[in-house]
Amino acid sequence: MVPIMTRAAVYTLSLLLLLLCTLHSRDVVNAAHSSQPNIIFILADDLGWSDVGWRNPFMPTPTLDKMATEGMILNQSYVQQTCSPSRAALMSGRYPYHIGFQHETVSANHVFHLPNDQLIMPEALKKLGYATHMVGKWHLGFCNWRYTPTYRGFQSFYGYYNAAEDYYTHIQKHGYDFRDDDQVDKSAVGHYSTNLFTDRAIRIINDHNTSQPLFLYLAYQAVHEPLQVPQWYLDQHCSSIVDNDRKIKCGMVAALDEGVKNVTDTLKQRGLMDNTFIIFSSDNGGPVRAAASNYPLRGSKITIWEGGTRAAAFVYAPSLLQKTNSSYEELIHITDWYPTLVEAAGGGSSVANIDGVSQWKNLLSGGSGPRHEFLYNMDEVTNSSALRQGRFKLVQGYPGNPNGWFVTPELEKLVNATTDEIHNGRGHSPPYQLFNLNRDPEERNDILDSHQDVFQQMKARLDSYRPSLLPSKTTDRVHAADPSNFNGNWSPGWC
Ligand SMILES: *[C@@H]1O[C@H](CO)[C@@H](O)[C@H](O)[C@H]1NC(C)=O
Ligand SMILES: *[C@@H]1O[C@H](CO)[C@@H](O)[C@H](O)[C@H]1NC(C)=O
Ligand SMILES: *[C@@H]1O[C@H](CO)[C@@H](O)[C@H](O)[C@H]1NC(C)=O
Ligand SMILES: *[C@@H]1O[C@H](CO)[C@@H](O)[C@H](O)[C@H]1NC(C)=O
Ligand SMILES: *[C@@H]1O[C@H](CO)[C@@H](O)[C@H](O)[C@H]1NC(C)=O
Ligand SMILES: *[C@@H]1O[C@H](CO)[C@@H](O)[C@H](O)[C@H]1NC(C)=O
Repeated sequence: MVPIMTRAAVYTLSLLLLLLCTLHSRDVVNAAHSSQPNIIFILADDLGWSDVGWRNPFMPTPTLDKMATEGMILNQSYVQQTCSPSRAALMSGRYPYHIGFQHETVSANHVFHLPNDQLIMPEALKKLGYATHMVGKWHLGFCNWRYTPTYRGFQSFYGYYNAAEDYYTHIQKHGYDFRDDDQVDKSAVGHYSTNLFTDRAIRIINDHNTSQPLFLYLAYQAVHEPLQVPQWYLDQHCSSIVDNDRKIKCGMVAALDEGVKNVTDTLKQRGLMDNTFIIFSSDNGGPVRAAASNYPLRGSKITIWEGGTRAAAFVYAPSLLQKTNSSYEELIHITDWYPTLVEAAGGGSSVANIDGVSQWKNLLSGGSGPRHEFLYNMDEVTNSSALRQGRFKLVQGYPGNPNGWFVTPELEKLVNATTDEIHNGRGHSPPYQLFNLNRDPEERNDILDSHQDVFQQMKARLDSYRPSLLPSKTTDRVHAADPSNFNGNWSPGWC
């Protein structure tokens, strides 16, 4: 009797223990996961400061406006001046001038790619247990498979490697550029990319196994050139705009907004929104020669004026943010998202050997941030750079063209102003210019002469950045890259 009872007792006890252990470990797992928010990073392409409804009443972005209002508008969120440098900074957390990305964008036939010498954002999030997916534009090099998204931390990739392709044919120059993971995907032909990318994002969210946290990098083609959009969006949302290019841009923005609506609706339907952190940002300022508006900021995409570098951006996470319906005025630089998201994922408050700093705690609390300074860029080819310290911006050399204040036709009456372009080139630029962006966010008054002390201090500080510059990768074009060698596709395998 005794041994049997003992055996039964032992059996019951071990069952209990097993149950306890199981419960315990499942609780731990759940706790770890619920503290790891899902992260959706929506990167718009070439969206201007005033190409959003909360700054320009002609832009039909009800979804983005509502999210910005229910979240926090990032009013001092800075990016790089063009696509590849910004995306490199986002993925690596490093200033482009530290990795040779300060001057060029990656052309389809360049042997030029994001360096493989460090973990990048998706690799770090994957290590922290995230499912990692990328949809949209890469633009960080693809000459060898090991530089492409599915070899750089993304478990899936749906999109294109290059830039500025046709929204329907997906042809760039004379090559086709559209992939599902590493396979060429011809089923995309004839379909507008904003729809394709939205549909894939929805599928990823619907298929996602919620036992893991989700990281989705949704890098829309919208609203980069070429100016293309289904007629429906023009008729439906943009009839009050007369200028033709501007009308098309408006339609592209409307389609983007609808895409974000469909994606966020899916997150809500799946019950994921409560533990999801969404970042929305443009990759650079709007190109004013391609119907974008950065008004009232100075300059354009490609320049290190505010119009090229101060992004339309917000964060949205209704149940995570303590402060909502507010404008967040602390400085954020695009290199900050990598360490910010690593901290969000429970990976500690800093990442070694990068230039970004985590903004996680202050974004959640709405309190003051860790950043008081950043480098806009440092380009030894054009001999130009700019540094921000608090309210001051020191510009060295020529910040670039187009220069001036560009007013899109539909805004002229509203703001009672017209375009005021400055036609001076590199040779006419003062060697240094100083602006107080608190008082003068439009960079209209160079205060260098009256602020010699600030100038000397900032010039010394700017010079202290120079020694760590890695020369810009100005690369030769490689004939082996030609799509004629790859059945008409832009394809890895030539470096
Ligand atoms: C959003 O969803 C609606 C309804 O399914 C669809 O008609 C529309 O094309 C979608 N928009 C985008 C940009 O994919
Ligand atoms: C989700 O993942 C967990 C853990 O890997 C697994 O046990 C479960 O079966 C998966 N659920 C579905 C629906 O695939
Ligand atoms: C947001 O704040 C403004 C005032 O700053 C207020 O008029 C508006 O109703 C608020 N919106 C929401 C959704 O709370
Ligand atoms: C954002 O910054 C601009 C100027 O830099 C300022 O005029 C504006 O009041 C700030 N806040 C909002 C909500 O736009
Ligand atoms: C518009 O600007 C002009 C020139 O700066 C000025 O004379 C005029 O009073 C302004 N009109 C309005 C309605 O602000
Ligand atoms: C670069 O520009 C600075 C002024 O902005 C000038 O002092 C310096 O001589 C220039 N360097 C070269 C190599 O041209």
